[in-house]
Amino acid sequence: MALKTRITELLGIKHPIIQGAMAWVSFPPLVAAVSNAGGLGIIGAGFMNPEELRRAIRETKELTDKPFGVNILPDNPQLEQLLDVIVEEKVKVVSYGIGNPQRIIERTKPEGIINLPTMGAVKHAVRAEKDGADAVIVQGTEAGGHSSFVATIVLVPKVVDKVKIPVVAAGGFCDARGLVAALALGAEGISMGTRFIVTKESPVPQSIKEKYIQSSEEDTIITGHVTGVRCRILRNKLAEEFIKLGEQNAPPREFMMLGVGKFRKAFIEGDPDWGSLACGQVVGMIEDIPTCQELIERIVGDAEKVLSRIQSKFVAAGS
Ligand SMILES: Cc1cc2nc3c(=O)[nH]c(=O)nc-3n(C[C@H](O)[C@H](O)[C@H](O)COP(=O)(O)O)c2cc1C
Repeated sequence: MALKTRITELLGIKHPIIQGAMAWVSFPPLVAAVSNAGGLGIIGAGFMNPEELRRAIRETKELTDKPFGVNILPDNPQLEQLLDVIVEEKVKVVSYGIGNPQRIIERTKPEGIINLPTMGAVKHAVRAEKDGADAVIVQGTEAGGHSSFVATIVLVPKVVDKVKIPVVAAGGFCDARGLVAALALGAEGISMGTRFIVTKESPVPQSIKEKYIQSSEEDTIITGHVTGVRCRILRNKLAEEFIKLGEQNAPPREFMMLGVGKFRKAFIEGDPDWGSLACGQVVGMIEDIPTCQELIERIVGDAEKVLSRIQSKFVAAGS
């Protein structure tokens, strides 16, 4: 089954499925695997310097000839150099979150690079369209990583009603039921982070993939209420420390110090207790470690069955 939407057309991809950027996780092998499977992979370059980014882009190009994206922080002090790399390497899509995107848009739009920001509030999505975004990923509070206050099921239709650009739904997706639900809400694709962490091509250590498989939808908490950098992570020893600091009304600096290096501890060193295991509530629905191709084909293939199941429930009035 082929599912065509304005998102597949805009990005030049086969299936309306995007791998959300993930710092310390979405390195070239995962990005290329998603793009090769007909979705859009996005390099999580939030912590990369320009040389590292160029290397990551070139490595991705060696692994795929399909479109892929790069995610950067608008407030990165090396923004100009990162943008030079993105333009010189002719990356197809640039993605970013909250922050002032003006310079990114000025530098990339004239080069024909597609701007695909992620937003977690209606007003931010509306603003992104005004600023020049070509499409917007709308991420609800269920999502892993930086967290919105509003649930995906409320946020997505609200944004769809307010903007003309295509909307991609993010936060809580992992299967065909989610894809069909997103389409019903008016989105034209889905973006998944947590689900792609638990795939064969994901570079994350096996200990972490297994920890995710064992976890339930009730096992995540949101940290960062004090610092303002809200992040949904799995409850573990590190998360308990964050909770303790909150109970003690500790100053923001202590929260920040506790968080330093903890993504690396999780996703490179594989420490399930003291690493910052960012993930969404959808972690409770993940039970296997497929390849990206198996996962994407399963989602698109099952979507047809989900649709006919729904249709079979509608009966003509009076019958
Ligand atoms: C481990 C992890 C790291 C993330 N890092 C980033 C990032 O660097 N930049 C970004 O825009 N979003 C980041 N996100 C958010 C994802 O791109 C995606 O929007 C989110 O995971 C979607 O929700 P889901 O986890 O329910 O699928 C991250 C998410 C996770 C789980």
